[in-house]
Amino acid sequence: MSVPPGGSVSLAGPERAEEVVHVIHAAFAARPALDPPAPALEETVDSVGKALAEHGGLIAELGGQVVGSLLLEPEDRLIALRRVGVLPEHQHHGLAAALAAGAEAVARERGFDGMALEARAELPGTVHFWNLQGYAEVDRDGPHLTMVKLLPHARRLPTAEDTRALGERLARVLRAGDLVILSGDLGAGKTTLTGGLGAALGVRGQVTSPTFVIARVHPSLVDGPDLVHVDAYRLGGTAELDDLDLDTDLDDAVTVVEWGSGLAEMLAAERLELRLERAADDVRTATLTPVGRRWLGVDLGPVLGTT
Ligand SMILES: Nc1ncnc2c1ncn2[C@@H]1O[C@H](COP(=O)(O)OP(=O)(O)OP(=O)(O)O)[C@@H](O)[C@H]1O
Ligand SMILES: [Mg+2]
Repeated sequence: MSVPPGGSVSLAGPERAEEVVHVIHAAFAARPALDPPAPALEETVDSVGKALAEHGGLIAELGGQVVGSLLLEPEDRLIALRRVGVLPEHQHHGLAAALAAGAEAVARERGFDGMALEARAELPGTVHFWNLQGYAEVDRDGPHLTMVKLLPHARRLPTAEDTRALGERLARVLRAGDLVILSGDLGAGKTTLTGGLGAALGVRGQVTSPTFVIARVHPSLVDGPDLVHVDAYRLGGTAELDDLDLDTDLDDAVTVVEWGSGLAEMLAAERLELRLERAADDVRTATLTPVGRRWLGVDLGPVLGTT
């Protein structure tokens, strides 16, 4: 994540409480008035100092001045970002994104599953900003949204058999209604992985590249979910999965979409993104990114084979 020239993001303790309160007050006062008002405006040096002493926070500095900050607070397996703010005169220069990247690094280092935060529905620009950082809404209580970004997991796949085995292990966590978005270049191994998944799910028919059809339904032979295998290259950018008029209800199936570009978020709010990348030495890397409420608390370590 790029920080503007002369800028830096670092961990902060209670000794920075005064500067952090200043940022919080200035940033939150500059927002449109909300009902109920953001409690951030009631923060004091005392309350912020206490929060910083307990769990720490992050500050963004520019030319020696603290211009942005956030407070950290563990919430079960996630780390919450609170009071995220940047001084109004320093907004739109990537500082908030740099703070978000810093929080992600902290979450990774400290072994959390991901990050959570509260956003106000009345501030669509803020919600959009967090969407762009990879956060998805997982809960809504009136105007209060809970947004979460779960950390991706990666592993190397030296052989095609490793790719297939990953698909097989994926079958253990998938259930009816789930959507898997497979992205990666031509020949990265998307169909190979889906083949392993189909075999482990116990569905009928060989999984092949759905080149001549947009989608193929593989019915379950074991009273489990069907497998719907979609080639999104042919589906086109704006099409809806529901419009495919398939012979099965997507709620009763595991749906796998082979997708080349990064438009996955258009398909569903809850999804498992699996990206396959092929390096110069032909070795593939799989990166699994769970998105949405469905995946909160789901341990993907065993799927990746990393734990
Ligand atoms: N981890 C891997 N290491 C080496 N070869 C692999 C690996 N995974 C898959 N392959 C091989 O790469 C080739 C292409 O695989 P596959 O058809 O699954 O890719 P794809 O991503 O579905 O391609 P397309 O973009 O055409 O849909 C196959 O020959 C497969 O055996
Ligand atoms: Mg394919």
